[in-house]
Amino acid sequence: MSTPATDSRWAVEPVTPFGLALHATVPGTHVREVPVEALRALVREHHLVLLRGFDSFDSAGQFSAYCESWGELAQWPFGTVLELVEKEQPEDHIFDSSYMPMHWDGMYRDHIPEFQVFQCVHAPGVDNGGETTFSHTPRVLERTDPRTVEQWARVTGTYHRAMEFYDSVTVSPIVTTHPVTGTPVIRYNEPTAADDQDFVNHPDLTFTGLDDAGIAEVHRTLRAALYDPEHLYAHAWQTGDLVFTDNYTLLHGRNAFTSGAPRHLRRVQVHGNPPLANPGLVK
Ligand SMILES: [Fe+2]
Repeated sequence: MSTPATDSRWAVEPVTPFGLALHATVPGTHVREVPVEALRALVREHHLVLLRGFDSFDSAGQFSAYCESWGELAQWPFGTVLELVEKEQPEDHIFDSSYMPMHWDGMYRDHIPEFQVFQCVHAPGVDNGGETTFSHTPRVLERTDPRTVEQWARVTGTYHRAMEFYDSVTVSPIVTTHPVTGTPVIRYNEPTAADDQDFVNHPDLTFTGLDDAGIAEVHRTLRAALYDPEHLYAHAWQTGDLVFTDNYTLLHGRNAFTSGAPRHLRRVQVHGNPPLANPGLVK
């Protein structure tokens, strides 16, 4: 059986500091030609896989139908495909051009998706920012001084967020384990400065387990480690890119982009088998 790593229709290259890229080498090669089972295994192993230069999907419906070959899709009031396009008067930062703090998808929902699939319908353009940022949390834990990790492990976050699609509270220790492999991972929604007037719809975040000075130190050291270039990959979008990521392992966010830049991503979430009931959801 051909596997993604050994096929003449694409070249496989590492992504720095983590992840794998498949570059189509034969014009007209379609994303559907890459075997899903093998691709899924690569995403679990490398946590992020980029497909570049492939033919893909002309519509959200086609994209969603393809993603169904990966597993059960997360359903939203808008369907399965989130169209990430800047809105003129956003009611939430997700539809703004601001930066997006680190978080994990599904943190406020009944189930946490295992995978995210992104299609870049239109890139924001060179020098316009808008990279999607991914932090490799097991590597962060491995490479950080154990005494610092011990401080992180004492802290629990309580997160409350009300937006168009939910109004939920989630409680999660910062250091926890991958629900399938047991590998230590980080679950953290990075706070934004309360005085950042440009950030639309702040969530309410509370952290407990240490005194105020200890909590402040945890935020400082954790942020530095998550954004350390050794652990952080910032994906600069090119039109046509498909990116598959491991939401059980990575945290992700977004760099700010030039307002009005033509950035258009589609995102679908794929559940694990069985779907992971959100362990932190309180209401
Ligand atoms: Fe997200």
